[in-house]
Amino acid sequence: MRKNIVAGNWKMNKNLQEGIALAKELNEALTADKPNCDVVICTPFIHLASVTPIVDAAIIGVGAENCADKVSGAYTGEVSAEMVASTGAQYVILGHSERRSYYGETVEILEEKVKLALANNLTPIFCIGEVLEERQAEKQNEVVAAQLASVFTLSAEDFGKIILAYEPVWAIGTGLTATPEQAQDIHAYIRSLIAEKYGQEVAENCSILYGGSCKPSNAKELFANPDVDGGLIGGAALKVADFKGIIDAFK
Ligand code: PGA
Repeated sequence: MRKNIVAGNWKMNKNLQEGIALAKELNEALTADKPNCDVVICTPFIHLASVTPIVDAAIIGVGAENCADKVSGAYTGEVSAEMVASTGAQYVILGHSERRSYYGETVEILEEKVKLALANNLTPIFCIGEVLEERQAEKQNEVVAAQLASVFTLSAEDFGKIILAYEPVWAIGTGLTATPEQAQDIHAYIRSLIAEKYGQEVAENCSILYGGSCKPSNAKELFANPDVDGGLIGGAALKVADFKGIIDAFK
């Protein structure tokens, strides 16, 4: 059976000391009151080596927010999947809409990143989702189908190792959340595409997270949908009370 997962995406927030303090506080809260789902925190690269040893790996997984599309070498400023893995991190967010739109990440670049992440035993949290104009033109299904091309070249075995996150770009950081019906409809569609490509069993086992202005007040009704297996959380992951409130939606 697929897992329920709540993953935090810190984005470019928190300096090292603040990040360590946040990770410690979250670890204390979740050690005292154990979650009923997998919990992951994805942090800036520089935090990874400090955060991994201070969280209980049985309760909180740690991940990066990106990795390079090259193995190693003269790529000034880049951080490879192997480097991420060497910090003890186990996950990496790939294809976030902010990476696609501000840093020009294409289907082809993301295909390379996913392969390198898997080659280094990192679990990709692969993000897909449409922008507002595409939703208004009712093109969301074709948009996510095209974005899935980056992961639909994987073998069934490798596809079985990834987590998907559907994040409508119009809902990210805007306070506008997809309705539970909108989320369920497109998650079911995404799962149907996986079933077509890899068969029913692989589709049933794939965790598909919802992201975009997820909060303690709306998490429960979003996660209650049969095809919504948790959330990818931005703003609300920066405060332990809010992040835990979302994690507790599974209680
Ligand atoms: P948000 O971000 O929760 O702040 O909307 C979600 C994301 O970008 O992953």
